[in-house]
This record gives sequence, structure tokens and C-alpha cells, in this order.
Amino acid sequence: MPIKSSISVSQIKEGLETQLFGSEILGFDEVESTNDLAKRCLDKGEGLVIITDSQTKGKGRSGRTWHSPKGLGIYLSALIKPQTANPSPLTLMAGVACVSAIKPFLTEEGPNPSLKWPNDILIQGKKLAGILCELCDGKSGWLVIGIGINVNHLPSDFPDSLQEIATSLKMEGGGPVDKAALIRSLIIQLDREYRSWQLEGTPALVKRWSEHTRMFGKQINVNRGGSNFHGTAKRLDEEGQLVVLTKNGEEMAFASGEVTLNP
Ligand code: BTN
Repeated sequence: MPIKSSISVSQIKEGLETQLFGSEILGFDEVESTNDLAKRCLDKGEGLVIITDSQTKGKGRSGRTWHSPKGLGIYLSALIKPQTANPSPLTLMAGVACVSAIKPFLTEEGPNPSLKWPNDILIQGKKLAGILCELCDGKSGWLVIGIGINVNHLPSDFPDSLQEIATSLKMEGGGPVDKAALIRSLIIQLDREYRSWQLEGTPALVKRWSEHTRMFGKQINVNRGGSNFHGTAKRLDEEGQLVVLTKNGEEMAFASGEVTLNP
């Protein structure tokens, strides 16, 4: 395990007063995947945060890879052990935390980040950040929250396949960004949102999440287990499921799925 990092962990810790997240912070130059590494670090306990400068096997949702070039993005995983039978809302929790952390790094006049259910942070329809929450197999109760944010990328830093669909804080007028300050902000917001969720529950989280989305009222496609469902995104229900009004006037609630916004 190469414990060496060009991200300054001590800089991130400056003024960091959190209850849980960041109880320990490990920084690396390069790892395969911070999520996979976090799963092997349960002995470090809840609140552990792992950051790295680059990933060689960064994981995205649905078996995709997460483009993780050296020094340009934030690649962070946090370890928690939520006392819940349904950890799905924690993806929504991380999304709200991410938007709150990112906002101060964008100009007020510029476009706002918005959330796309369940795990995307978009700016002007392009992907700025993504969240991958994973349960730790065989270790009941442990959950890794993985967050990737495109920070100081220029268009040419993305591979061809991402050129039209990805963006970065720098490209949206926010950069160059002090990554240590953004990571600190992210840890603080995760700590705050997680505590709020523990105290107030999922309905209150859903309300906060809904304030940051522009997908309601839009025509969407949901792919669930290979089947496609078209309709209008209506709202999230109290459990954080996406409610879609289909063409035959029926409301369907999705607990999982891949959403495409139709132009
Ligand atoms: C997605 O939108 O597909 C989710 C992307 C999640 C990427 C992050 S980067 C840090 C953490 N480690 C990983 O291997 N993946 C997540």
C-alpha cells in the first residue's frame, strides 16, 4: 500500500471539525480504486476517508470505469456503518453533500450544479461528478461512499467518449480549484448531511435533494435490469424512489435504474 500523496492531508485537516467523517484521512498518489481500498480498511473504523491523486481502476456505476487522471480530479471514498436496512438513500445524501460542497467553488453568475437521480451531479446537462455507494461484501452493515469530481480538467483531458458528456469545475468557470479546500468542504458537508439524515430521516433528505434537481417534469427513460420505461419524472417518494408517470397514466416507483434525460 503506497502511503505517499501529493495531496496534502494536513492541509485538508486544517480547521476540519467534524463528528464522524474524516476521523482518519489517508492520502495516496495512486491506487486502483479508493472504494476497493476502503473496503479493506474496516479496521480504521467509521469516518475513514481515503483520497488519491489518481486511480488505475476507478469504478463507476453499472460496471463502468471512472476516468481518474492524475492530479485533475477528486477521487474520495468514505467508510460508514449506517444502522439501516435500506442504505439506498445514502447515495442521495452524498449527492446533496456534493452539491453543497461544490457550489462555493463556482461563480454566482455561472450555471448551478443539479442532481440527476440517483447519483449524478450535472452542470448544463454534462456530468461533473458521480457517486458510487457499495456495501462491503461479507461484512454486514459497512458501506463505502465513493465520490469522483471532475475538477481541473480541460476538454482535452477527457477521452473522446466523454468529450460531449463530461465537464469540470474549471471548464464551468470555477477553476483553477484548490483541491484541498474542496475536499475539506466535501468532508464537512458529508458529515452534516449524514447527521441530518440520521436525525430527520429520509423524507427530509428527499426534500433537500429535490431542491437541487431539474429532472422533475422532464421526459426520461429508465433502464432497470435491461428493460426500458419511458415517462415523465414526477418526484421522489418518501423512500427516495423515483416516481415516473408512464404514457398510460400509471405511476411507477423505481428503487434503482439508469436514467437518461430525453432531449
Ligand atoms: C458514477 O457516476 O458512475 C460513479 C463514479 C464514482 C467514482 C468514484 S472515484 C472515487 C471512488 N472510487 C472508485 O473506484 N469509484 C468512486
